[in-house]
Amino acid sequence: YRAEVQSFRDYLKSSKRVMALCGAGLSAASGLPTFRGAGGLWRTHDAISLATPEAFRINPSLVWQFYNYRRHMALNVKPNPAHYALAELAKKRKDFITLTQNVDGLSPRAGHPAEQLFPLHGSLFDVKCSEFFCDYAEGNNFTDPIVPALALPLDESDPTTTEARKAKELDISDAKVLLPELRLDDLPHCPKCKKGLLRPGVVWFGERLPEKTLSTAEDWIIASKKIDLIIVIGTSSTVYPAAGYTDRARVKGARVAVVNMERTEKTTQGMREGDWYFQGDAGVILPDLLKDEIGELTVL
Ligand code: NAD
Ligand code: APR
Repeated sequence: YRAEVQSFRDYLKSSKRVMALCGAGLSAASGLPTFRGAGGLWRTHDAISLATPEAFRINPSLVWQFYNYRRHMALNVKPNPAHYALAELAKKRKDFITLTQNVDGLSPRAGHPAEQLFPLHGSLFDVKCSEFFCDYAEGNNFTDPIVPALALPLDESDPTTTEARKAKELDISDAKVLLPELRLDDLPHCPKCKKGLLRPGVVWFGERLPEKTLSTAEDWIIASKKIDLIIVIGTSSTVYPAAGYTDRARVKGARVAVVNMERTEKTTQGMREGDWYFQGDAGVILPDLLKDEIGELTVL
């Protein structure tokens, strides 16, 4: 294993253009559930009922509470050493970029330079208007929840508060908790068109990625004569177009290093002679792999 790490470090040193492709596994060490792994978010919830435009049209109150809950979870955890390692690498190498499928805001909080970070699926801390004709969109810092209206009623007197919620902060991971039906006019509305409901600024199942994000990521990949190395971290490589970037980088001559807790048919897809597979926790493995470049992490 040490020989593998050393050969990776040597190759990274001699690489010019490097990219990282990240998924939920990068944030697992921070304590956020992944989507498809054991205990994954889609295990406890039907993803289609919570993360699609259809779900939002039918029950915006439920979808908003789900995303409020995810934002609440994300604010309650901290970036882990893997987030910091990528941020430090980006500070040292201007020819390094991170493509992330994560919406949890942990990479920006680890100090990752924004101009080298492409959030392919948006962010829990962004909102946009749900009306197709309106282009209102707003980014947000990571402290104030955008929609105070969703400061869910937890006081005793409120009839919609279920027993389970009285006892503790809203925690919809146990699907038994009955969520209150928030009234439509209690949900955030678009300040621009005054018509549409605001929605979470994330990419839902079946939606295209924001053109701007897609084109900047594509430009970086296509524009570059050659990509020397892609590091694929904590993703099941099941969702496109993100899953396709590894093959795109290979076509550009990149060698591939996978960092993943598991080893599956999808995560090993297309592996070739000279590629690396580091099986285990990204929070432990990544700082070790990047040590020659970023030194010892002191930001813990
Ligand atoms: P999907 O199969 O619908 O593909 C997602 C989008 O990528 C599609 O709109 C399609 O236009 C595009 N696409 C599909 N295959 C492609 C390819 N080969 N090359 C280029 N583009 C391709 O994926 P999905 O599982 O339905 O998820 C849709 C998106 O929503 C994904 O990006 C997923 O990560 C995201 N998502 C986000 C959340 C969240 O809470 N942030 C939850 C679920 C899904
Ligand atoms: N270190 C490294 N890898 C890990 C760790 C860890 N500590 N914990 C889990 N993993 C790996 C799992 O083995 C799995 O391969 O992370 C991956 C998580 O996969 P998913 O849960 O499918 O998450 P992701 O690949 O990011 O999903 C892609 O689909 O649901 C949508 O928009 C959502 O961005 C998400 C996208």
